[in-house]
Amino acid sequence: MNMQNSNPLKESVKKYWNIASCGTEFIREQKHSKSYFEAIENFRYTIEPEIFGFAQFTRFHGKKILEVGVGAGSDFTQWVRAGSLAHGIDLTEEAINNVQERLKLYELSAVDLKCGDAENLPYENNQFDLVYSWGVIHHSPDTERCLDEIIRVTKPGGQIKIMVYNRHSLFAFYQYLIFGLFKGQPFQSLASILFKNQESPGTKAYTIKEVHQLLSSRPVSVTIIRTPITNHDLLYYHQSKFVKMLARTAASIFGWEKVGWFLMIDLQKME
Ligand SMILES: C[S@@+](CC[C@H](N)C(=O)[O-])C[C@H]1O[C@@H](n2cnc3c(N)ncnc32)[C@H](O)[C@@H]1O
Repeated sequence: MNMQNSNPLKESVKKYWNIASCGTEFIREQKHSKSYFEAIENFRYTIEPEIFGFAQFTRFHGKKILEVGVGAGSDFTQWVRAGSLAHGIDLTEEAINNVQERLKLYELSAVDLKCGDAENLPYENNQFDLVYSWGVIHHSPDTERCLDEIIRVTKPGGQIKIMVYNRHSLFAFYQYLIFGLFKGQPFQSLASILFKNQESPGTKAYTIKEVHQLLSSRPVSVTIIRTPITNHDLLYYHQSKFVKMLARTAASIFGWEKVGWFLMIDLQKME
């Protein structure tokens, strides 16, 4: 792997995700068994059903796609099942092992699956019909560089689908309550709270305005940017019906289409 841009923060990010790929931490089934991967898949698409509408896997049958940050490989498996010419990278060996075992179990194969860094994508310019990345580039220290790399390897006229976290969301506000206000640190910024507490060290979250600013100087046109309410904003894991009702009330007040945790960006690279 090209670790040209390796730095201590990126090493910490790698260490964090090498312990457990995203979505595997609560799975109790035997690692790499069929029931293990099915539990991961069931959980993921029950909690995050918006992924299907965003990715539109079956529309990319026969197309050359790259997934940046495959994690445990639930989405990557969908690309392969849908018949795309699937290429995938992840910073961690743990993720690549997970996906290799998963594909083998279902007798599926990818075109290319390897460890790699989103800040230095190991691909030539203008290669892919689609580059897809769900919940990844905000974890990498140089997110803007990831964005430039994703654009570089996309074909002119090709599509780019990226999800990053939305700082102006109900979920981010709950993180502020838990790690800021309730810990007696009400003046800590939301950005700093997420940087320190949201999954791997150094995680960022953006506003729609910031995303538009990031994109304005780059050779892409915005197809759509959406931030609908997610199950994370609705506190799906909370035991109390009353607390869940408060979350639904907050969604109604602040907007079901506005304050969701996932900032889903659909772009086209300019011809
Ligand atoms: C929250 S998980 C998301 C994984 C997967 N896309 C999913 O939705 O389950 C973040 C993933 O991004 C990967 N990652 C973080 N920084 C990366 C980088 N610079 N290059 C490639 N992958 C990276 C991590 O190793 C981890 O697997």
